[in-house]
Amino acid sequence: MEEKIETIGVVGAGTMGSGIAQVAARAGYRVRLRDVKEEHLERGLAAIEQNLQRDVDKGRLSVDEKRAIIGRIERAIEWSAFAEADFVIEAVSEDAEVKAEVFRTLDQVVRPEAILASNTSSIPITKLGAATRRSDRVVGMHFMNPVPVMKLVEIVRGLATSDETVERTRLLAERLGKTPLECRDSPGFVSNRVLMPMINEAIFALQEGVATREAIDGIMKLGMNHPMGPLALADLIGLDVCLAILNVLYEEFGDPKYRPCPLLKRYVDAGWLGRKTGRGFYEY
Ligand code: CAA
Repeated sequence: MEEKIETIGVVGAGTMGSGIAQVAARAGYRVRLRDVKEEHLERGLAAIEQNLQRDVDKGRLSVDEKRAIIGRIERAIEWSAFAEADFVIEAVSEDAEVKAEVFRTLDQVVRPEAILASNTSSIPITKLGAATRRSDRVVGMHFMNPVPVMKLVEIVRGLATSDETVERTRLLAERLGKTPLECRDSPGFVSNRVLMPMINEAIFALQEGVATREAIDGIMKLGMNHPMGPLALADLIGLDVCLAILNVLYEEFGDPKYRPCPLLKRYVDAGWLGRKTGRGFYEY
């Protein structure tokens, strides 16, 4: 029997977490959005408000609907806010230790029947499941950036994830207006295993002076019909995130084809992380 989902907990109010909270509230769910600091919540809520306002300006949402959506999002600092959650999606920083700690805590505070999902792009779901006593109800729910726009949710089945958990997660993704596609718990899943080598290769081409950043991106945009070039996309994703994912692929497979480009490492050393810091391969 399918259990009804009414309240969705979201851990982390960054770009991904606030995007997930937005689509969940827009789909009619009550949302509890938790972060460690009030200012992070403020920033997340401001991004949601701005996104929804764009839809109001374009006539796709009424002012009342916008108010109702925002009204369904309750912000929280305390973990106890998740006591009533029927489904929790974790979207904290891409750090295996931090995420495992979040899962240990969620396992204590969220009722045992609820599913715990991670938006991780590269950390094994099986590992996060093992930090809990409900590894059959731990699953990957990998949204793409920008969450309100992108159709895909990559559903990742950990070794211990049950069929029922996968099914309920697929259903939820559909109710959020997304298209779920399933894969196994393999490094980088499918999305990043295929995407990151392309981005890395574009950075190698830039490092070697094969072409300018504009030419590299232009060739991929116009030649392959990609909505944006790989360097601009790396800036959108965050260069630190790209490096972290490449490191996981490199370590897990032990294959040199995944070695991160030194230029990517230098940009991260410099703190040029892309759009979020105002400078990456481009200036913002
Ligand atoms: N939040 C909400 N909506 C946004 C948005 C954001 N951050 N950015 C753009 N949009 C909306 C705009 O409002 C606009 O909506 P309408 O067409 O309905 O009016 C629409 O998206 C298109 O935006 P723009 O016209 O401003 O710009 P664009 O046509 O260049 O599109 C884009 C922007 C959607 C980001 C597009 O360039 C694109 O699809 N890029 C590729 C994104 C991508 O590949 N994402 C996956 C990254 S990988 C990942 O996330 C996973 C991982 O693990 C690393």
